[in-house]
Amino acid sequence: MHRVLVTGGAGFIGSHYVRHLLRTHTDIEVINADALTYSANLQSLADIEGESRYRFIKIDLANQADIDCLFSTPFDEVVHFAAESHVDRSIQGAEAFIRSNILGTYRLLEAIRHGGTVKKMVHISTDEVYGSIEKGRTPEGEPLAPGNPYSASKAGSDLLCLAYVNTYKLPIVLTRCTNNYGPWQHLEKFIPKAILHAVENRPLPLYGAGNQERDWIYVTDHCAAVDRVREAGRVGEVYHIGAENTASNRTIAEQILDLLQKPHSLIQQAKDRLGHDFRYSLNTTKIREELGWQPQVSLEKGLKETVKWYQTRWERKEGSPR
Ligand SMILES: NC(=O)c1ccc[n+]([C@@H]2O[C@H](COP(=O)([O-])OP(=O)(O)OC[C@H]3O[C@@H](n4cnc5c(N)ncnc54)[C@H](O)[C@@H]3O)[C@@H](O)[C@H]2O)c1
Repeated sequence: MHRVLVTGGAGFIGSHYVRHLLRTHTDIEVINADALTYSANLQSLADIEGESRYRFIKIDLANQADIDCLFSTPFDEVVHFAAESHVDRSIQGAEAFIRSNILGTYRLLEAIRHGGTVKKMVHISTDEVYGSIEKGRTPEGEPLAPGNPYSASKAGSDLLCLAYVNTYKLPIVLTRCTNNYGPWQHLEKFIPKAILHAVENRPLPLYGAGNQERDWIYVTDHCAAVDRVREAGRVGEVYHIGAENTASNRTIAEQILDLLQKPHSLIQQAKDRLGHDFRYSLNTTKIREELGWQPQVSLEKGLKETVKWYQTRWERKEGSPR
């Protein structure tokens, strides 16, 4: 049995990845290590809780005693999702971001370095580390220019990983993905929040005029891409992941309203985010050509399924996804 440590596996993307690993491989044992911060939700993994190849451990990566406990048994591979992930929270206060995203990644890297058993680590990062780009798609290798404390902390962790490849020859591969959406995303994030407001006929707040553009990918497509990188990505390389669906926030909000048959007049302008990056968009040719990955879910289909998922949950009164 191959032992794969997934950090942050109780979060939005991590939980889909844990499920992807268990469903697509029979020779893999998954250890999900997560601090269970406000954004975690173990309910999202209720369907696999009893599986013999799955184990959950509550671990704060920034805490050395927790890390020592986690690494008292060896791992073959590590996929590192754990992070503070919400830009608005990082603008309110960045300390938790520095602690989890930088110190947590540092402690994980040290444990891997001293443990000596890990053959591959995939570090999960974001298109936000490049900062805003006016037009076109950012290729791998562009200089990092993060525009907010969240993306700065992610850029810091990316650079630490690359430094550990160079200095200690750790077998690390980096991925940088565009905006994810799908079931189990925290309600503070744009798409679930927009769906909830629309379902409840509440005004749907958009930052500024809503012209900011993001590049959207359905969460299961991201997970399949991460798994290709785990299997075949080259050490020391960065792979972009994205479905090349760049759209303005206003367009996405209008599509959600259309799917729920609600009027566009629900859209309301809100005070813009401080230092708001206007546009992110990634060139994803490398992963497609080198690793043969392709997204499977169109934006139209993914949004439809996501809206249906949240709507059904709320109608059945299964409570908030978080
Ligand atoms: N959501 C996106 O659109 C997106 C896009 C690109 C990259 N990413 C990256 O993907 C990863 C996962 O994002 P997400 O949206 O699933 O976030 P999320 O906030 O839903 O989940 C993060 C998880 O990490 C855990 N965590 C936080 N600090 C921890 C610590 N110190 N020790 C252990 N666990 C800790 C939390 O408890 C939570 O379960 C992050 O690294 C994020 O930067 C996200």
